[in-house]
Amino acid sequence: MMDIVSSYNEWDPLEEVILGIPDYACIPQDEPAYRSKLDAADLNTFTAGLRKDETIQKARVQFDNLARILEYQCNVKLLRPEKIDFSESIKTPFFEIENQNCAACPRDTLLVIGNEIIETPMSNRARYFESMAYRKILNDIWEKDKNMLWTNAPKPTMADSMYNLDFPWDDKSQERKDWIGSFKYVTNETEPVFDAADVLRLGKDLVVQNSFTTNRKGIEWLRRHTKSRGYRVHEIHFPDDLSPVHIDCSLIPLVPPTKERKGILMNCPERPIAPADKERIFSGSNWEIQNAPRPFTTTIPELCQSSYWLCMNLLLVSPDRAIVEETEIPTINYLESLGIKCIRVPFRDVYGFGGGIHCVTSDIRRRGDRKSYFPNFD
Ligand code: NVA
Repeated sequence: MMDIVSSYNEWDPLEEVILGIPDYACIPQDEPAYRSKLDAADLNTFTAGLRKDETIQKARVQFDNLARILEYQCNVKLLRPEKIDFSESIKTPFFEIENQNCAACPRDTLLVIGNEIIETPMSNRARYFESMAYRKILNDIWEKDKNMLWTNAPKPTMADSMYNLDFPWDDKSQERKDWIGSFKYVTNETEPVFDAADVLRLGKDLVVQNSFTTNRKGIEWLRRHTKSRGYRVHEIHFPDDLSPVHIDCSLIPLVPPTKERKGILMNCPERPIAPADKERIFSGSNWEIQNAPRPFTTTIPELCQSSYWLCMNLLLVSPDRAIVEETEIPTINYLESLGIKCIRVPFRDVYGFGGGIHCVTSDIRRRGDRKSYFPNFD
């Protein structure tokens, strides 16, 4: 019997994947972890609740197109989450909210490390029960794949004590720059939290961004959890990112290293890796870091929790094929210059739901074993 869950990096040939859905997607209620991701312009103008039907329908068209491409053009087995009514309220002993978020971005909720899927300890209240949309998928796989490990990391309380409530919300302010510069974020260090999308999987090495969504305790949890299986966890920062959330618009592996040549990672030129982290992790490694091209489109939809660097948020379906947003010609040209063929898909109608093409997927299986791509740490 074949293992169903097996994925060690971001580029090996993709065989099975979860793709999110836009159904019942809501705009979260004001809460610290959501507020910290919004532009100053959006801060006091948004209304929580179910997204407009027209917005959901437009996103569905682009999701379904991506689904067809993955299934029929890339030959990838596709799984979709269950439709949960995210307009339902939540009341726990620690907080109460009117409505939840959506199941558009499994990349944040499920962390796949080899044969293990971890339901991550996220920090947005609106996402408290989000992993439930994937429970049927996880349960079915767990029944069939006797080697699959299914883990739920310690669920945070999301009580007020978990957040710095005096965080500077204005993302243009000097105070905000000072906080981020000293790696102080909206979530504090009271309880471990992390989102899967803060983790870059490079074989034996996991590069994890300390951010709004991943605190140092969360990184330490991952370190202890994976240590006995020989993983090495490296903490990384992008100090010029004033809304640091998720690594998949900041540092993307494009070409894996071989004996003959260095691997290539693309880094966001507007918010590069902290020099000390770059030195510690990459000096003496066989990775070369190149600047990503500027985005073609610098406008982003209203209430988009991401920046125009979603142009970097691509999905490698094999080492020589990527799915990229169709308007991002500079990224497409750059990838093609590296020998990566691009499949272009329209995806901007999904951006407002929390992310781009990489965010809306979560690997189940890629063909290939775990390797070390950092001989300097062996
Ligand atoms: N924080 C990232 C989003 C990653 C999906 C950005 O806004 O660029």
